[in-house]
Amino acid sequence: MQHLVDTEDLSDIQLANIIRDAKAFKRQLPPPLLQNRLLITLFFENSTRTRSSFEIAGKRLGATVVHLDPTKSSTKKGETLGDTFDTLSAMGADGIIIRHEFNSVPRKLADKNSTTVINAGAGNYAHPTQALLDYFTLLEIFGDLKGKRIAIVGDIVSSRVASSAIRLFERVGMDITLVAPEPFMPNNSLRKCEKLDDELLDNVDIIMSLRAQLERHKAPIFEDYDEYAKEYCITKERLKDRNIIVLHPGPVMRNIDISDEMLEDQRCKVLEQVKNGVFIRMAILKALLLDS
Ligand code: NCD
Repeated sequence: MQHLVDTEDLSDIQLANIIRDAKAFKRQLPPPLLQNRLLITLFFENSTRTRSSFEIAGKRLGATVVHLDPTKSSTKKGETLGDTFDTLSAMGADGIIIRHEFNSVPRKLADKNSTTVINAGAGNYAHPTQALLDYFTLLEIFGDLKGKRIAIVGDIVSSRVASSAIRLFERVGMDITLVAPEPFMPNNSLRKCEKLDDELLDNVDIIMSLRAQLERHKAPIFEDYDEYAKEYCITKERLKDRNIIVLHPGPVMRNIDISDEMLEDQRCKVLEQVKNGVFIRMAILKALLLDS
């Protein structure tokens, strides 16, 4: 039984096949490959993109998709997460797509090996499908990513998007620089820079902007995000006419992460990421439920 807790669960061949399938599905929708399969989405944290993207992906492949809302489930009556999960597995789920605030939850549930577990975001640890859709989006633009220079900008330490992206981008040979004020900077061996200045911008091909993860901060880190925005907001004035691709996983804090004007700019791929998310999740579901 194959799970997707982070992209390290995928072999190089599986990774290549997922990209190949996502590309093919984007050109032409496939037949209902997952007919008679049951997928359950179980989201303990809020979501707009990831949950709907998974549900659309499953339905486009002909699967039955059921959503359990934990705020209205027996979790509220004191049922443990493990018991909720076992209950859904017993109903014949072929895959459970889970989002949770705790880093360890998807791996613990996967270790039960009762149904395929797909991590749709766990704490600040991993968000593998976001990393894969970002990878796919960049491959479409650049063809080959070896040596491509990416700056990850924002609340990196709290971001599961950054955690998964860093592991996948390192694996495919990209050159990563982390750009953040000290409280947002993780402790690792990657190149770091506190300023989003001209010298940095002259030396990157891609910027991944990230939202401040306010819900993960134990105490407010910045009183005033307008001050933060002065240093880190991705604006046209900052980028000038440089040929830099701008990514953001969403939700965007407008004029703090990226300016209104920049969001309309051709270089900004936020909605292309969303679009690609459906195709990559279709390819992931196929890889996990049919191919392995
Ligand atoms: C992200 C998440 O929930 O991790 N959103 C997403 O899935 N596209 C990022 C965020 O909430 O900032």
